[in-house]
Amino acid sequence: MGPVDAGACVVAFDVSVVIGKDYLPPSVDATATLQMRENVSMSTPVRSTALTDLLLLGQGQDLGSERGVSCTGELPAASDPDLVSRAKIARAALGDRALVLGHHYQRDEVIEFADVTGDSFKLAQAAAAQSSAEYIIFCGVHFMAESADILTSANQKVILPDLAAGCSMADMATANQVSQCWKELTEIGVAQETIPVTYMNSSAAIKSFTGEHGGTICTSSNAKKTMEWALSKGEKILFLPDQHLGRNTAVLSLGLTLEDCVLWNPWKPMGGLTVEEIKAAKIILWRGHCSVHGRFTLDSVNEVRKQVPGIKVLVHPECQHEVVSAADVVGSTEMIIKTVEQSPAGSAWAIGTELNLVSRLARAHPDKKIVFLDKTVCYCSTMNRIDLPHLVWAMESLVEGHVVNQISVAPDVAKFSKLALEQMLAL
Ligand code: 13P
Ligand code: SF4
Repeated sequence: MGPVDAGACVVAFDVSVVIGKDYLPPSVDATATLQMRENVSMSTPVRSTALTDLLLLGQGQDLGSERGVSCTGELPAASDPDLVSRAKIARAALGDRALVLGHHYQRDEVIEFADVTGDSFKLAQAAAAQSSAEYIIFCGVHFMAESADILTSANQKVILPDLAAGCSMADMATANQVSQCWKELTEIGVAQETIPVTYMNSSAAIKSFTGEHGGTICTSSNAKKTMEWALSKGEKILFLPDQHLGRNTAVLSLGLTLEDCVLWNPWKPMGGLTVEEIKAAKIILWRGHCSVHGRFTLDSVNEVRKQVPGIKVLVHPECQHEVVSAADVVGSTEMIIKTVEQSPAGSAWAIGTELNLVSRLARAHPDKKIVFLDKTVCYCSTMNRIDLPHLVWAMESLVEGHVVNQISVAPDVAKFSKLALEQMLAL
C-alpha cells in the first residue's frame, strides 16, 4: 500500500472541520499553519505544504498542522478478516509494557482494546498515574497524546496510532496569535490582571503559554472550578480556545452575564474589540469552536421535544450557548455516560455530542430511549481516524521493537505546560 491510507479508513470526512466558519480565512497559508505547533517534535520529519494539500485529510504530510498527515507505515487492510485476532495477539504480546487509553468518541472496534476509557480529564489522570508502562497508546486526538507525554515520565513513550487524528478546535489558537493577543493586552494594561484558562483541547505551545502566565488548563468536567480559581487570582480570564465552553461556564455556572464576556477575534487587530470593551469585560473568549458540537441547534432541541414528549436533552458544553441554555443537563462525555446510566428504565434522552458515543449508549441501554440530537450524521472525523488497522499497525510495530508515531513535546514547551496541567489536576 502507498503512503495514503484513506482506503483503509472508513471516515466520513467533514469538510467543515477544515474549512468551517472562523477557521481558515483567505489569508492563512502553510507557514501560518506550520507555526501552530512550533517546538513540538515527532518522529517523522516535517515538510511544508500548500493550503490545498491541507484540505485533503490523510493525504500528504504536514506535521506542522493536525491535518493532512499520512501513515508512515504499511497498514493492514480494513477488510482483513484476521484484524481482530491480530489486535488480540499484539495486545497480549505487549502485556504490561503498554497501556491503551481510549477517549469516549473512539470507534467501538478501538474501544474494545482500551484498558481505560474516559473523558479528557480522566485520561489525563490515568496517564499521570501510570508510571510503569513503557508505551501509552493513546486512542484519542493529538492534544490528548501531547498532554499524556507531558504528564508521563521521560522513559515512557506516547503513541498516537494515526498522526492525522488532530482537533480542528485546537488548531484555532496558534502560539503566535496568542502571544500577539497577550502583547496587545499588555499594552493596554489588561494582561497584568488577566489569568489564562486554557481548555485541554489546545496545542502544547498554548498550554505552555498558560503555565508561563500563571494560568491553568481546564476540561469540560472542571471548567467551573478552574474559572472560579482564576477569578480568585485575577480580575479577568482569557479563555482559550473554545468560546462556547468559556461562555457557557461563565454565564450558566458562575452567574456572570453575556455582557461580561467579549469575543477576541485572532484575525483582527486588538481582537476586533475597543479598549473600553476589553477593560469592561470579565471574560475574554477566544474565537474558537468545535466543528462537531457547533452543529447542534436550538431548532433540533425544540423539534425533538415536539416529537418525543417528556424527553430530556443532554448536551456537551462545547455546544452553542442557546443550545446549552435550552438543555436539561450539560456535561462532559464522562458525565453524559453517568447521567444515562443512572437514569430509570423508560426514560428518554436526546444527546448532543459525538455520534460514536451516542450510538454506544443507545446499544448499552435498550431499556431507555436514546436519540441523537442532530438530524444529520455527526462524527468527529479526526477521532475516527484511529481505527483498527492503525491500532494493529501501531501495536505490531511496538511488538517488533519499532516505535512509531511517537508524540514527544520539546522539554522547554513541556516545562510550563506541565505546570498548567498540574495546576488543573491539583484543583
Ligand atoms: P471531554 O473532555 O468531555 O471528553 O471532551 C473532549 C472533546 O474533545 C469534546 O469535543
Ligand atoms: Fe476537537 Fe470537536 Fe473532535 Fe473534540 S469533537 S476532538 S473538540 S473537533
